[in-house]
Amino acid sequence: MSLFSSPDFKDHEQVVFVSDATSGLKAIIAIHSTKRGPSLGGCRFWAYKSESYAIADALRLSRAMTYKSALARLPLGGGKCVVIGNASEIKTPALLRALGRSIDQLGGRYITAEDVGTKPSDIRIIGEETAYVAGLSESSGDPSPITALGVFEGLKAAVRFRLGADYLAGVTVAIQGLGSVGRALANQLQVAGARLIVADINQPAVDAAARDLGAEAVPVDEIYDVNADVFAPCALGAILNEETIPRLKVSVIAGSANNQLALPEDGSRLQRRRILYAPDYAINAGGIINIAFEDRIAGTYDRAGALAAVGRIEMTLEEIFNRAESESRSTNEIADELAEERLVEVEI
Ligand SMILES: NC(=O)c1ccc[n+]([C@@H]2O[C@H](COP(=O)([O-])OP(=O)(O)OC[C@H]3O[C@@H](n4cnc5c(N)ncnc54)[C@H](O)[C@@H]3O)[C@@H](O)[C@H]2O)c1
Repeated sequence: MSLFSSPDFKDHEQVVFVSDATSGLKAIIAIHSTKRGPSLGGCRFWAYKSESYAIADALRLSRAMTYKSALARLPLGGGKCVVIGNASEIKTPALLRALGRSIDQLGGRYITAEDVGTKPSDIRIIGEETAYVAGLSESSGDPSPITALGVFEGLKAAVRFRLGADYLAGVTVAIQGLGSVGRALANQLQVAGARLIVADINQPAVDAAARDLGAEAVPVDEIYDVNADVFAPCALGAILNEETIPRLKVSVIAGSANNQLALPEDGSRLQRRRILYAPDYAINAGGIINIAFEDRIAGTYDRAGALAAVGRIEMTLEEIFNRAESESRSTNEIADELAEERLVEVEI
């Protein structure tokens, strides 16, 4: 299997294969870039179909973290750790501690945090072996509420840009996924007077949104077909693709999910349909911004600074929207370009 010639390998600085026979740990830590600072990205547990899938995921996710942090002008680079295996079957304190020792050996070039398959309590165990952990509850804590706040502000900016509306009262938003971020976003939208249409594979979450927020519930696959102003994907990746994009009847897409476009060309597909897409890593940066305001050495967290920085997501999106419109290009292409420019900025 090739690494350097893989299509997902984009000048990653370091890719580390980690194993520990005693605990059964098999993990890959990919450091895409440390140009702006130490690489930071969550630790994901997943039962990958093969090792190649795990490597591809680590390469892609670490690069996305570089772009997300650079676009938000954070003093962080991009990294990711993927552990091969189903979290409920393989995750033990011994395995987490072995992973912590491996992270420690990287000397701070990679800092880990929560992701799919890990909880703050797991990060705490990893932290018994290394100081290079972030997002613990006594520090910046659960990033979801602040991610939702960033999405809410970004959604408002997108609505203003495309629909010319300063307020969300009467605007219809279709939300896919009512988990930590989706539900918090739904709460804020309801307070702002938006009309909600929701779908989730988790029926109790749907029932709660219908009961508490007056949301209209639709079957999971019908969320792409509803008449709404905004589509807010807050569940899975790759949901904007050649099958779903022709079905959409919205003017704006603004949600928290990572990797929403199945392919970069899907951004152009949206542009041709005059649907304004708020690039995922621009609008969902609230969580990483929150972590960046931890001072891990002093053990402090600057919440006011984090909130002010999340407020700037709106400006970043406006810059992307304006540039995309004046150059007749897709918003995802402009976001990548801006992130690449910010990656090489000398002054941070
Ligand atoms: N939590 C954060 O701070 C954060 C930050 C950046 C990006 N994100 C991204 O935002 C998305 C949501 O994150 P979260 O923390 O709320 O996750 P979560 O696991 O709490 O919620 C995901 C929700 O999506 C639902 N879901 C799964 N498959 C679905 C489907 N096919 N149709 C409809 N609903 C479905 C789940 O039932 C769940 O309620 C993810 O893509 C995540 O990577 C989260």
